[in-house]
Amino acid sequence: MAGDADVVTPRRKPYYIELAAGRTYVWCSCGRSRSQPFCDGSHKGTGFNPIAYTAKQAGREVLFCACKQSKTPPFCDGSHNNLSSTYEEDDPNSAANSAIAKVGAGTDGVARLDGGCAVSTIDAATLEHRGVLGHRQVIGAADGARHQSLFYLECARGVSPVAGFDDRHVILFVSSGCGRVAIADRSFQVDAATGVYVRPGEAFRLENDGALPLKVFAAACPLVDSIRWHDAMPACFDPRLPKRSVGIDPEARNRMGDRFFQMLVDKSLGSDVATQFIGEIPKSKAAPHRHLYEESLIVVRGEGWMWTAAKRAPVRAGDVIFLPRKQVHSLECTDPAGMLVAGVIYPGDNPSINY
Ligand code: FES
Repeated sequence: MAGDADVVTPRRKPYYIELAAGRTYVWCSCGRSRSQPFCDGSHKGTGFNPIAYTAKQAGREVLFCACKQSKTPPFCDGSHNNLSSTYEEDDPNSAANSAIAKVGAGTDGVARLDGGCAVSTIDAATLEHRGVLGHRQVIGAADGARHQSLFYLECARGVSPVAGFDDRHVILFVSSGCGRVAIADRSFQVDAATGVYVRPGEAFRLENDGALPLKVFAAACPLVDSIRWHDAMPACFDPRLPKRSVGIDPEARNRMGDRFFQMLVDKSLGSDVATQFIGEIPKSKAAPHRHLYEESLIVVRGEGWMWTAAKRAPVRAGDVIFLPRKQVHSLECTDPAGMLVAGVIYPGDNPSINY
């Protein structure tokens, strides 16, 4: 995108467009067009050239880059988050935000915000039991989810039954404890903040030889409303993708303003449509924003508030946040030590893209 003149940033957030099949969109790369995000010929003499994109699929929703810094032009790749030293923030104490209603959890442990956004607290008393494994669904169709499900699994000392989700992509997150995840004849050592990928058609078992419970969240994509229990471990394991577990690696952190995130289960493990990440949030409130993917977030450490347009609910370690596609929201961390969250986005491969 380099030109003889400097690139201009007409605005920081990308443009949301629903594509028309067969139409060619000519994206402005110089930032000078008055018809953003599209070219009006203003690049002449700047050394920049527009980029043409012809839509194949009617109604596909895309985000055209507005900051002109994307490394995947014409589409946003989240680079706009690094245009300043802080993530785009909002004042939680502004007059408008002070008027927003606080909501607490109902008897089912769920605080419901706008547009299907919800904060769930896991109560051990609500678990069903199968051998040494306590389990329950946390996010599903009944909660308004359309793309991904989330289940909570708590394995006491011993070996769990074999669980699976048929043809779904399954992404596990160990929230506490340590032990092993077995898939077919393979075994993966896990401890807190490890992500594990279970391919479609495979099944898994949790093994815990410690005194403390092994607590695991299982995201299944696309949506499914029950766990399939197997009498025996299926032999199915995709040997083309032998690496299945990822832990925290400070060297793999990506900057996003004054926030950081690390990919856990992603394309590098073969998961190209469901993506897991872990993110660090300093004491701050993000500006309200949206995503094109559905998202589940587990609060690993810290506390704060989940905000939507007209409601906010408290969040603390152990809670689960559900965010429907395109729902305006913002997460506030009130903890001076910061907040750690682990998320799964689906369908999507880049958790830094927002609009
Ligand atoms: S708007 Fe340019 S990367 Fe997002």
